[in-house]
Amino acid sequence: MTQDELKTLVGQAAVQYVTPHTIVGVGTGSTVDKFIDALAASQIRIRGAVSSSVRSTERMKALGIPVLEASEVESLQVYIDGADEIDHRGHMVKGGGAALTREKIVADLAERFICIADESKLVDTLGRFPLPVEVIPMAAAQIARRFKAMGATATLRAGCVTDNSCHILDVRGLSITDPAAFEADVTLWPGVVTVGVFARNKASVCLLGTAEGVKTLTF
Ligand code: A5P
Repeated sequence: MTQDELKTLVGQAAVQYVTPHTIVGVGTGSTVDKFIDALAASQIRIRGAVSSSVRSTERMKALGIPVLEASEVESLQVYIDGADEIDHRGHMVKGGGAALTREKIVADLAERFICIADESKLVDTLGRFPLPVEVIPMAAAQIARRFKAMGATATLRAGCVTDNSCHILDVRGLSITDPAAFEADVTLWPGVVTVGVFARNKASVCLLGTAEGVKTLTF
């Protein structure tokens, strides 16, 4: 099976986590696009979705799924999103699509994070994928120096301005053995908007697309 077919498989499998007549949190990325398409094609009718990006909002609206503002809801049963990496405890690296801040905000509203990913995303230790960090532009150089002091290399993502008018640093050379401590530490650095480690808002379930079918990992 191709990576695209695996994404389709897990996108379809995630529909079973949607309760009719509820509001669903929806992430961003090529795997989530498959979920949005599967949800729109299903018989399940929802009150609406809270979206984590302009990209997902546009796709849902085009398919007739109502989109609500995050400020209009107090909580969500589920948030469904992809990941760039996920470890065996449900910690993730996210932000490859530059939507990490809104993703973390919507994930924080949800009781359960359902991660949908193909098996290439499963890792023993986070850090192989360059870690996205959204930053206030004037702080980018100082934040890059802080990562250098940790033995890592932070590069400004060329031409990328986020939905929040900020920039993205992609950090290479990290081995994140304690994701919760790492997230808590980097989040406190002045000028950091969001670090792409999701530990506090880790996955409850991962639907992993494999050659043998969808594996359900629970954390
Ligand atoms: C978007 O900012 C990311 O967090 C995505 O969730 C992540 O990059 C996964 O994207 P794909 O489903 O396209 O691999």
